[in-house]
Amino acid sequence: MTPPPCGVRLAGTGSKVPDRVLSNHDLEKILDTSDEWIVQRTGIRERRICDPETEGTFTLGRDALTAALADAGMVGSDLDLIVCGTCTGEMACPSVSCRIAAAVEATPAAAFDVTAACCGFVYSINIAESLIRSGRFRSVGVIGVDAMSSIIDYDDRSVSILFGDAAGAAVLVRDDDPGRGCIYQRMHADGSGWESLYIPRREREVPEHDRDNPIRLGHLRMNGREVFRFAVTRFRETVEDALAGTGLSVDDVSLFVCHQSNERIIAAAREKIGIPEEKMPVNIDRFGNSSAGSVGLLFDQLRKSGRCREGEIVCLVAFGGGMTWASSVWRI
Ligand code: UT7
Repeated sequence: MTPPPCGVRLAGTGSKVPDRVLSNHDLEKILDTSDEWIVQRTGIRERRICDPETEGTFTLGRDALTAALADAGMVGSDLDLIVCGTCTGEMACPSVSCRIAAAVEATPAAAFDVTAACCGFVYSINIAESLIRSGRFRSVGVIGVDAMSSIIDYDDRSVSILFGDAAGAAVLVRDDDPGRGCIYQRMHADGSGWESLYIPRREREVPEHDRDNPIRLGHLRMNGREVFRFAVTRFRETVEDALAGTGLSVDDVSLFVCHQSNERIIAAAREKIGIPEEKMPVNIDRFGNSSAGSVGLLFDQLRKSGRCREGEIVCLVAFGGGMTWASSVWRI
């Protein structure tokens, strides 16, 4: 039997960052870099990093989802699915989402991880929303989380200055109004560009062009210039596609909540499309690039500060390793 059409309500959001701050000045002490270089090239002043003894992807994700459930006035057992976007899961098996499901007492809710690098949160919220609309699930916990400090080589100045640790979460529930929820979404990938951003487990996975460079297996490798080029173009195209696909103008959209990759990438796209600065807020100065954590973290901070109210249109956008890119336009 075909289920009756339904919409999706964003019932709550939450986020979590570690207490430990790693500032540019801290990095100056261990690397050949400067606060001035990092601020000029990225807009980042500090980032949060986990205490490796007590924190990680699992604890950040668990705490973000717990906060989102509290915001929604719900408990873990109200959920029938948990979807977690991450590329820094502690173990290949079990998934981070299975452990989080048990920790928030959501058992026997289904749980799976989505590996889409910096697109983790946007991919996950799109999948979750679609599954609720299909009629198969009623209440879903969505998490985007990465403990980038666990895969960063702090001797490599080309990556260590950029990344931080964070988690963002949302609780989505079925709603009787079909006009509510995600009104447009796109998810794309182009695996031919994978060598720009990868985490090799074995020597044989290291591409030819990187063989002569010092490689630490299990750590992130990035060709910053290549990713920069990809991001500037794809980011602008993804926002323009979301506007064209919904028939909305920049004026109709209250907020563009974008992956915090690099302030220059965000500013370039914003200026090209003609989006006012206040509609595309940034928090990269304080939290760096937290990969799958960034969109959910910023979204929660904006919601909690009253910047995103019921009935408004919000456009989530991300791009990253894979290469991947995605959008999700919501009537909140
Ligand atoms: O979330 C998605 C994943 N990642 C991204 O979005 C990252 C996209 N890329 C970027 O944000 C930028 O490429 C970086 C911030 C990573 C690097 O900035 P850039 O302007 O592209 O610098 P570059 O790699 O072209 O390097 C310029 C110079 C080089 O020196 P020479 O060859 O001109 O003498 C580098 O060796 O800056 C040097 N450099 C540094 N100097 C001080 C590279 N990293 C550093 C550093 N401090 N941390």
